[in-house]
Amino acid sequence: MHEQIRQTAEFLKSRLTEPPQVGMITGTGLGSLTERIAVDFRISYEEIPNFPKASVEGHKGTLVAGKLAGRSVIAMEGRFHLYEGYTPKEITFPVRVMAMLGVKYLFKSSAVGGLNTQFETGDLVAVTDHINLTGASPLMGPNLDTFGPRFPDMSRVYDPELVVLAREKALELGVLLRQGVYAGVLGPNLETPAETRFLKMIGADVVGMSTVSEVIVGVHCGLKILAIVAITNMNLPDCMKETSLEEVISNAEKTGPALSSLWEKIVGNLKG
Ligand code: HPA
Repeated sequence: MHEQIRQTAEFLKSRLTEPPQVGMITGTGLGSLTERIAVDFRISYEEIPNFPKASVEGHKGTLVAGKLAGRSVIAMEGRFHLYEGYTPKEITFPVRVMAMLGVKYLFKSSAVGGLNTQFETGDLVAVTDHINLTGASPLMGPNLDTFGPRFPDMSRVYDPELVVLAREKALELGVLLRQGVYAGVLGPNLETPAETRFLKMIGADVVGMSTVSEVIVGVHCGLKILAIVAITNMNLPDCMKETSLEEVISNAEKTGPALSSLWEKIVGNLKG
């Protein structure tokens, strides 16, 4: 595993003009987030050695390197999900590669279902904590000691300073930014009313099918993490409505411009 990560990092390093500081991963319908990057190169996952291949509608499956707000960034347009059949290790492979390339910050966006009744479709939410309900950890198996410890601490997963910075910049831009706890489920099926009620009871504000695996590996690699998610549908257990992929993609795309502006402002104001 370590050798494969090194190989992939070497392959990308030979194309990079400078080491990236920020790693970004965009989710369903949010590919436009990377449009503001002054691109050095863009490469399809298929051309990257050892990378898993993207398969879901709404995901591009390309890696972009360049500059955003004066910082060197590397961004995944589209990510891998457990529900596609990938293992937790495959899904998180790119995060390890980013860490090996020298990335310090991991920024993530994704589509989520809203559980907190004060939220609405279209709202952006800064994730302050998560509950991993996928039934697996990407750290299962032998520990990659060169990256991090066997039992990484999870008491401050989402960097509180980055959340404060995100809130400040959202205020400046006039973008409403909520805060909340993300429940990570396996999918691909959406939740039943009973499951939705359960998720609310255990303290989740939003639910999604990604993020937790990559974030756990990000923590293991010592990255500072910020996740801002977009509510594409509200899940209210007592008046459940049907949700379709088309609705999720179209609502995610609508939040793209606000999220992109916010992202750029945050990247431009990172310390260090
Ligand atoms: N549930 C789980 N994942 C999701 C949802 C949802 O309602 N919407 C977008 N991703």
